[in-house]
Amino acid sequence: MTQPSNRVFSGVQPTGNLHLGNYLGAIRKFVALQNSHECIYCVVDLHAVTVWQDPAELGKNIREVTAAFLASGIDPRKHIVFNQSQIAQHAELAWVFNCVARMGWLNRMTQFKEKAGKDKENASVGLFSYPTLMAADILLYRATHVPVGDDQKQHLELTRDIAAKFNNDFSKQITAQGHGESYFPQTEPIIEGPATRIMSLRDGAKKMSKSDPSDLSRITLTDDADTIAKKIRKAKTDPAPLPETLEELKARPEADNLVGIYAALAETGKAEILSEFAGKEFSAFKPALAELAVEKLAPISAEMTRWMDDPTSVDAVLRDGADRARAIAEETMKEVKAIIGFLS
Ligand code: TYM
Repeated sequence: MTQPSNRVFSGVQPTGNLHLGNYLGAIRKFVALQNSHECIYCVVDLHAVTVWQDPAELGKNIREVTAAFLASGIDPRKHIVFNQSQIAQHAELAWVFNCVARMGWLNRMTQFKEKAGKDKENASVGLFSYPTLMAADILLYRATHVPVGDDQKQHLELTRDIAAKFNNDFSKQITAQGHGESYFPQTEPIIEGPATRIMSLRDGAKKMSKSDPSDLSRITLTDDADTIAKKIRKAKTDPAPLPETLEELKARPEADNLVGIYAALAETGKAEILSEFAGKEFSAFKPALAELAVEKLAPISAEMTRWMDDPTSVDAVLRDGADRARAIAEETMKEVKAIIGFLS
């Protein structure tokens, strides 16, 4: 298989509570890349089970992420939408990468430290090796670009390190088998715009997250208009009016976050939002933000519900996507096995 020149891969975990950070930091970018790239979007259910998932809920959550992709405007006929566990090669390549990556590299992963918390001894082995599976997701399709939020940056650096070490360890075989100088590409992250790190509505120092115990900390993609307005009204702020400059905004994390959300929803920059709202109180800003959020999210939420009410169609999309993903995955894995020296 020749190396594609503009292939996008990204994934979202089906762990429930899909939120505004997932949408603005990732899913909306997935949609935008469809015109210029060949895109593969994956519901990463193997990643989800690195922490406990209720089997009775997992299927619903897989369909929910798929519904969010489709409702946001991802075209599953032109591009590929599938769930990871349907393609055995993800786990197979992850094993190879477990043998390429070094313990020291994984020990430096900050997300493992955050997720494992104090009780590291009790974390699953899967949670520790999570980033090698992520590298496998991306490199199985030899993707050149990966749109993600800022929290995935370190995992993408590791993906590049794994690709480089594999290319280096097996350079002789890679050349001899006609793949040129390197087999895996140096994948470029796409982390840009005002929404790469949306923060909790309750605490400007904490990331908006699916697992925050406070429901008020996040706007989910299934919240109705009243709930969105309530959460924005209750969002933590400081007493000062909105500032004139980005410099002043930076020192006020909660205000910065709300302006960032506004800018992202309006598809503009924070400076433009400040030029409209500088000197105004939050009592004026928050209703405007709520109105914009409802305007942008309500159609997605409605379309998501429509898909969720039709699980047969969602499953058909995933099956069709998996068939096309598998064709690529099988070819890569065949080549990887030959490079390593396994007998076929
Ligand atoms: P996950 O499921 O935690 O999040 C999905 C996407 O949403 C982004 N994101 C955010 N962006 C802005 N602000 C936030 N508060 C916020 N919270 C989450 C994430 O950066 C991500 O882009 N490891 C990945 C899933 C994954 C993956 C991959 C991604 C597995 N394999 C291969 C890309 C390529 C994750 O846990 O995402």
